[in-house]
Amino acid sequence: MMAADQTGLGVPPSLSAKVVGSFAYLTIRDRLPTILTKVIDTIHRNKNKFFEEYGEEGIQAEKQTISLLSKLRNELQTDKPVLELTDGLQDTESWNRYLQRQQRLRGDEEAVSWFKSAWLYMECYMYRRIQEALWLNPPMSDFDVFNEAKTQSFFESQQAVMTMCTYLEGVNKNVEKLSENQLFEQFNKLLQVSLWGNKCDLSISAGQGNSQKSSPIDSLNSLQSFILVDDSNMVWSTLNSAKRPGQSGKSSADRVDIVLDNAGFELVTDLILADFLVSSGLARQIHFHGKSFPWFVSDVTANDFQWTIRQTVAANHKWMSMSGVQWQNYVKEGVWCYHDHPFWTQPHEFCDMAADAPDLYSTLQEADLVLLKGDLNYRKLTGDRDWDHTIGFNTALRGFGPAPLCSLRTLKANIQVGLQPGQGEKLTSQDPNWMTSGKYAVIQFSSPKSE
Ligand code: F6P
Ligand code: MG
Repeated sequence: MMAADQTGLGVPPSLSAKVVGSFAYLTIRDRLPTILTKVIDTIHRNKNKFFEEYGEEGIQAEKQTISLLSKLRNELQTDKPVLELTDGLQDTESWNRYLQRQQRLRGDEEAVSWFKSAWLYMECYMYRRIQEALWLNPPMSDFDVFNEAKTQSFFESQQAVMTMCTYLEGVNKNVEKLSENQLFEQFNKLLQVSLWGNKCDLSISAGQGNSQKSSPIDSLNSLQSFILVDDSNMVWSTLNSAKRPGQSGKSSADRVDIVLDNAGFELVTDLILADFLVSSGLARQIHFHGKSFPWFVSDVTANDFQWTIRQTVAANHKWMSMSGVQWQNYVKEGVWCYHDHPFWTQPHEFCDMAADAPDLYSTLQEADLVLLKGDLNYRKLTGDRDWDHTIGFNTALRGFGPAPLCSLRTLKANIQVGLQPGQGEKLTSQDPNWMTSGKYAVIQFSSPKSE
C-alpha cells in the first residue's frame, strides 16, 4: 500500500490516509482485462459494419484497433510500465504531465507500472488508452465500444422506466397543491430513486447486465436501512434557502448541477429528479455534466443523454413518451443544459479541480447545489484514500467546495467517511463486503458555509 505523502498531493500529515491499494490490485488483475476482452470482442463483432461504412479502410482500422487493444491488455496483465499517450488530443498533455508527476514521486529506480500504481489512476488510464486506440484509427473515432451494453441496460429497465414516468406524471399533476411536507416527501422519494439508480452501473459487473426490474418506488421502504448517511434534510434546506435577493418567480434555487454517472436506468432516475426539481419550482435550471468519451463502461456521454431522451419520446407508453417530450422541451428552452469537460475523464481528485480545471470550478460555483452521482465521483471527492470511517466528509474533501454539494452514491469501493464511531466496525462484522457490494448507500452533504 502506498503512503499518502508519496502521492505528492499535499495532504497535511494530520489528515494523511493511505491510498487504497490492496483492493486495487485485485481489481486491476481480474476485472480490467475482462473489460478489455469484451471491448475487443465488440469491435470484432462489428467488423461488417465498419466495412459497410468505410470499405477496406474500415477493415484496416478494425484490425489496427484490435492490435493496439491486445497490446494494452498484455501490458496490463504483465505489469508493464505505464506509457505516455501519443494521440495529441486536447487532454493528452495533461495526462502525460500526470504520468510524469507519478514517476517523479516514485523516483528513478522503478517505472510506474500497472500493479504498482494507485487503482484510481490505473482504472482511468485504461479507459483513456481504449479511446486512444480508437482515435488513432480515425474511421473508428466515434465508435462507442460500450454502446451495446448501455442500450441493452436501458431496454431491460423499460418496465421500471414506465413505472417511474407514470409516477412522475401523478406528482407533477398535483404539484401546485402539495403542502410543504408533501413536497419534501416527494423530493425525498425521487432523490432516493436517483440514489438507488446508481446500483445499475455496468463497470462493477464488467459489462454484464445490471438493470432495474422491480418498481423503484415500492422498494424504497425496504432499502431505507441501507442508507448509512442520510443528509437529505440539508439538501432540502439548501434548495429552499437558495432564493437570491431580488429573484422573482416561484423557483427556490436558481440552478442545480448534476454530475451524472451511468446511462441506462440511472440516467432516467436523474432526469426524473431534474424534472421534479423544475416542475415543483425547487430549481429554475438544471445543468448536467457528462463524459466527453465512453468511460467506465456505462457512464453518460452527450450521445447517451440525447439518445435516452429520444427513446423516451418514442416509447409506446403515454406517460413515458410525455416525459420525453417535456425533457426535449427543457433542453430546447435551455432549462436543462448538458456540458462535458475533459476534467471528468482524467484521474485527478476533485480537490485539484480549482488548480487544474479553473473554468469547470467556476462553472460549478454558479450552482446553488451540486449533486454528484456514483461511486467513482465519491472516490475522486475523497481522493480514493483509506480514510478512517469517522473522518468528516468535509475533511476528506480537502478544500473542494465550489458550492453546497451532495454525493448520491451506492458503495462499490473501499472508502467510506462520515460514519458514526463504531458504525464501520459493526458493518464489517455483519457484512464483510459492505463497502464493495453496492448494497449500501449514502446521501452525503457538504457546504462551504459549514466549514
Ligand atoms: O467497482 C468497480 C468500479 O469500476 C469502481 O472502480 C468504480 O468506482 C465503480 O465501479 C463505478 O461505479 P459508478 O458507476 O457508481 O461510479
Ligand atoms: Mg459509472
